[in-house]
Amino acid sequence: KGLRVADKGFLNTAVIESHITYIDGEAGVLRYRGYPIEQLAEQSSFLESAYLLIYGSLPTNNQFSSFETEVLQHGIMHADAAGFFRSFRYDAHPMAILTSAFAYLGSYYSEANPSLEGQTLFTKGDKASLQNMDKQIYRLIGKATTLAAMAYRVRQGREFVTPPTGLSYTGSFLYQMDYLGHEDYRPNPVLEHALDVLFLLHADHEMNASSTTVLQAGSSLVDPYSAVSAGCASLYGPLHGGANEAVIRMLISIGSPANVPAFLESVKKREKVLSGFGHRVYKTSDPRSYIIRKVADEVFAVTGKDELLDTAMALHDAAIKDQYFVSRKLAPNVDFCGLIYRAMGFPLDFFPVLFVVPRVVGWLAHWRQMMLHPDGVKIWRPRQIYVGAEKRDYVPVDQRV
Ligand code: CMC
Repeated sequence: KGLRVADKGFLNTAVIESHITYIDGEAGVLRYRGYPIEQLAEQSSFLESAYLLIYGSLPTNNQFSSFETEVLQHGIMHADAAGFFRSFRYDAHPMAILTSAFAYLGSYYSEANPSLEGQTLFTKGDKASLQNMDKQIYRLIGKATTLAAMAYRVRQGREFVTPPTGLSYTGSFLYQMDYLGHEDYRPNPVLEHALDVLFLLHADHEMNASSTTVLQAGSSLVDPYSAVSAGCASLYGPLHGGANEAVIRMLISIGSPANVPAFLESVKKREKVLSGFGHRVYKTSDPRSYIIRKVADEVFAVTGKDELLDTAMALHDAAIKDQYFVSRKLAPNVDFCGLIYRAMGFPLDFFPVLFVVPRVVGWLAHWRQMMLHPDGVKIWRPRQIYVGAEKRDYVPVDQRV
């Protein structure tokens, strides 16, 4: 009653007031807690920006070092988890493994379980419960790399690697992925830095589909492990986090710059989708795409140029001039970073995982903000406009026609 129009796809629905991330899609502006993404990518690190997103201000030296220590110390997984990872088929998609792994992780930490006599993880004004909440946050960020690396190694039949000490968050992740048994193994510093910048760029993007999913699940006061698992599932789809994988599959199918015009014609006939283009909020180039181009140059200087780069550039150059895309304000989004991941040697189906690991930070920043709202948490229960059958009477099976 009273509802006349359904806002399909939430084109015009703001579900929350937020202090975290600002986007001006017309001007191509992205800021974390007021700081321009360009400045953060240049001067901050992924973990420092994670602190900023979660707590609202840049950390002092002491604040950062205690945050970093907490996060990295929480990287270690219970030894039994090896059995969980080994229960997957050798060819399981790493996103299926990771989505399950976050829910599985929750089974270890009953202190985060919200169902105990109606208590929630956070009780207003109670310092211990706030510390308990932050502990789950450190743990989820710290273990995101460990779970991701385990999902990677199990498919190769390799032993799992305990998170090392003395490396950055991104360095530790690369170490856990690549470690081959040499004591002095260290990730390439250029690639480590490049991944750190890409992680920073992917850490948050306000009310995207997966962040909304995390909040939707979280609004029932479920534990954050289950909420993050739900976010992971939401991100997996090709219209969201799966797009970086879809971009490479598209470029492989195009094959060479010569085939770009025919491919664009099939997009215009709606037979195909131009992955890596278009965005619900940006109606101009995604500001992260410029930073990604710079990172790509640094990575290609180490790894050599990706063979798909020429096709990608030809596609980009043709699409940004084509009236079909210009009139619909379809510009490159962040997902061409798949070319960098490919050059760094990550398997194609692992790309969405590289999106999840940093986005855990954004999910938890939004979740924490919602949990700490002075008015408490209100369950997200939207309405629908019913357009189905009027009341009718049940017909026994032998009388149905
Ligand atoms: N290729 C061809 N046509 C497109 C594309 C595209 N990539 N994106 C949008 N359009 C067309 C769409 O068909 C529509 O045309 P018309 O008005 O004639 O019907 C028009 O542009 C408006 O698009 P829309 O689908 O209404 O826009 P949306 O806000 O609902 O969808 C999107 C946004 C990102 C799902 C969509 O642009 C898309 O499918 N892009 C390709 C997948 C992709 O790269 N996704 C990653 C997004 S960025 C990172 C992230 O969020 O994970």
